[in-house]
Amino acid sequence: MKILVLGGGGFIGSHFLEKALEQTDWNILAVDLSSKKVEHLLPNSRLTFIKESVYGPSLNDWIGESDIVVSLTAICNPSYYNTETLKVIEANFIHPLEIVKICASRRKRLIQFSTSEVYGKTPASLGVDSWQYDKMSEDESPLILGPVAKQRWSYSCAKQLLERAILACGKEQGLHYTIIRPFNFIGPRMDYIPGVDGEGVPRVLACFMAALILNQPLQLVNGGLQKRVFTSIGDGIEALMAVIKNPQASFGKVFNVGNPNNEISIADLARKMMSMFPEVSGRQLGRQCRLKIISGETFYGPGYDDSDRRLPDISLAQSLLNWKPGIDLNNALRHSMRAYLDQYSSGNLNVA
Ligand code: UGA
Repeated sequence: MKILVLGGGGFIGSHFLEKALEQTDWNILAVDLSSKKVEHLLPNSRLTFIKESVYGPSLNDWIGESDIVVSLTAICNPSYYNTETLKVIEANFIHPLEIVKICASRRKRLIQFSTSEVYGKTPASLGVDSWQYDKMSEDESPLILGPVAKQRWSYSCAKQLLERAILACGKEQGLHYTIIRPFNFIGPRMDYIPGVDGEGVPRVLACFMAALILNQPLQLVNGGLQKRVFTSIGDGIEALMAVIKNPQASFGKVFNVGNPNNEISIADLARKMMSMFPEVSGRQLGRQCRLKIISGETFYGPGYDDSDRRLPDISLAQSLLNWKPGIDLNNALRHSMRAYLDQYSSGNLNVA
């Protein structure tokens, strides 16, 4: 079997490549602008890595040569949603739509990574008491975004529209698709540390790690009451493997992939990481390391808004794919924090 992984050099792609090369006999063609996260895999003869844009003249041929297309290309960093909105819409809807159309016309199986952000907010965020929507379910949850004017929702809208185009291609053109909605995957090789190997604001785990390593305050956006489920990348990749191996069960389906047992507020996440840091790093926290509340507009700029809670209903993936997450929050965090320390402590950063 030949699998084309578009965006194969990113966080999710690098972990998928690792697992697929280790556990299967699949041949992988991966395309990405950077190979930094997969350098250790490049010598494998079953991996062909093409270091160029996915959206070049060869896209049609790459898809034509493959049995399955895993589409991972995206801009998925919230700091861009309200600051580089046009790029976000292009990267998450306009460009990947090309992949969808080619897969439909060439009759290739498409596995599209979407996002938990398509759900937006919970009814509770509007003051509506509706316990039946506590969990976000693929077929039932209402779509609730914040004020229309807030560009934070550009990413959610772009992914929403891409999902709808895929569903339409399935219905009208017979596209064989599966959509995966990840819920805050975490793990090694996730994000950069600002000022070291990237600029701006990465996602929360990297923000907190940077603060811990550099002995700075951990900033809680709007107080940190919002909740997420942080899902180990290992569990996420198991779900993807199950989708690939079960084409009939996953045909035309959308799956939430997240660990509902790992739900935590951002403020509690900060406290947990502060308490784990000495054990994971072997260093005590400096006096500067404390919590600081900051407004969303100050932290991310005008147009920011937020999901209050994203708790997945994973019963569909459990029943159809026999998948369930097994890695608890402490282990997922410990593994991710160690990876940050390994990557950034040895001469790359001045650790306080
Ligand atoms: C992210 C991104 O939209 C996508 O990467 C992805 O599709 C989605 O999560 C997902 O993984 O399902 P979000 O969870 O809002 O969205 O992004 P994070 O940067 O991880 O932020 C989580 C929460 O922490 C937000 O409420 C944010 O305001 C807060 N935060 C972030 C802080 O309180 N302090 C920080 O230093 C950084």
